[in-house]
Amino acid sequence: MHHKTLKPFPDNFFWGASTSAYQVEGAALEDGKGPSCQDVKVVPEGTSDLSVSVDHYHRYKEDIALMAEMGFKSYRFSISWSRLLPQGVGEVNPKGIAFYNNLIDECLKYGIEPIVTMFHFDMPAALDERGSWGNPESVNWFLEFARLMYENFGDRVKYWLTINEQNVLTLAGPIIGTLHLPDNCTNVKKEIYQQNHHQLVAQAKAMVLCHELLPEAKIGPAPNIALIYPNTNKPEDILASQNANAIRNWLYLDMAVKGRYNHLVWEYLGHFDAQPEFAPGDAQALAQAQPDFIAFNYYNTSTVEYCPAEFELGDEKSDQQKMLTEPGYYRAVSNPNLPKTEFGWEIDPIGFRATLRTLYDRYHLPLLVTENGLGAYDSLTEDGRVHDPYRINYLRAHIEQIQLAISDGVEMLGYNPWSAIDLISTHEGIKKRYGFIYVDRDEFDLKTLKRYRKDSFFWYKKVIASNGQDLTD
Ligand code: BG6
Repeated sequence: MHHKTLKPFPDNFFWGASTSAYQVEGAALEDGKGPSCQDVKVVPEGTSDLSVSVDHYHRYKEDIALMAEMGFKSYRFSISWSRLLPQGVGEVNPKGIAFYNNLIDECLKYGIEPIVTMFHFDMPAALDERGSWGNPESVNWFLEFARLMYENFGDRVKYWLTINEQNVLTLAGPIIGTLHLPDNCTNVKKEIYQQNHHQLVAQAKAMVLCHELLPEAKIGPAPNIALIYPNTNKPEDILASQNANAIRNWLYLDMAVKGRYNHLVWEYLGHFDAQPEFAPGDAQALAQAQPDFIAFNYYNTSTVEYCPAEFELGDEKSDQQKMLTEPGYYRAVSNPNLPKTEFGWEIDPIGFRATLRTLYDRYHLPLLVTENGLGAYDSLTEDGRVHDPYRINYLRAHIEQIQLAISDGVEMLGYNPWSAIDLISTHEGIKKRYGFIYVDRDEFDLKTLKRYRKDSFFWYKKVIASNGQDLTD
């Protein structure tokens, strides 16, 4: 679509960036924090554990000051469940409450809007031992945690995100260290989708509770959404892309926004005898909830083609951005039209605009981008600089597409790329860096943990100061 002139970014647009608790905080067992599943998992070979991360727990003041220097309007971070409730439920850790009070106050001191993710991949280990999301009680556990956050932080936090990338938890749990299966599990898909169902109900009830307790606040889901293209215009490839989009994307948002299971996914689950059980009241709870906006993370689109049911899977590797083939439904293929990052993720800014348009078309809710970014090997030069033109180019191309989407009539709330500061990747260590702020540490050597401004830091500062009008180097 051609626009004679482009619409500007809204005046109150949330320019900022994101992190998650376990990937930045460190202090994994300090000041009363209980372990989370991330602290007890077997870390992938050759990557750092999460015990120190980038020490944000002790250095948050310096980090927030740097974000303020960039001109951030928002900072999206997550709250560690087991820092507030070391056992997941029951006794509260006052030092955990104090830490997040301080963090929130520090943001507000600089006029930075705190955008809080309630749950980002870090189930308390104590609750994993009780069956994790597979236990029907998990809905109440999450509500207890949600209530605690609303009561302690709701006077200052106006934007809440429920569960980060619930679709990734469901589809790629093993790779990010979150999948918990009972010993006697005979139908893995059924167990996973039952866990997913409990999360959907927990999310719905948390949204209702938020609106009840904090009428001024806004809340929304935060899945990882990216369109899935058909490989060709063969009709069977179109059907494959519909299947994949339903299973990866629409299941999560149809439920969050419309309160019902996507019909394609429901029938797909039926085929594997994996439809989740509804507890009494679930259907009503799911129908009652209403998000105020859709937050979502976007890295890249995927591509699929027709796949016969008898197709035999090889040892293909999947992760958040690489789809696993589902015989009978779709086969994941790579897209020769797209370049890739050093870590093998495709780069597709135009697909970002297409995703924004489709989301708005389907749900008609304002959109908040809560992740987008480039994982790369950065190096600190002798003069204390990090030259990362590749990251600037990536972010610029995506910001341009947001403005085009705004000009297409899409309602946008903000852009919070990944990540504010370098952090430990979900499964590829600290060497896969995303931040505007470089942290001096290696995979197994904590070095000085000193912070350095990357070139992208200065560039993003200019972008924010011009409200997205100056994207030049
Ligand atoms: C998203 C997650 O999947 O992608 C983040 O919400 C994650 O936690 C980010 O870090 C980038 O992925 P990775 O695997 O490169 O860390």
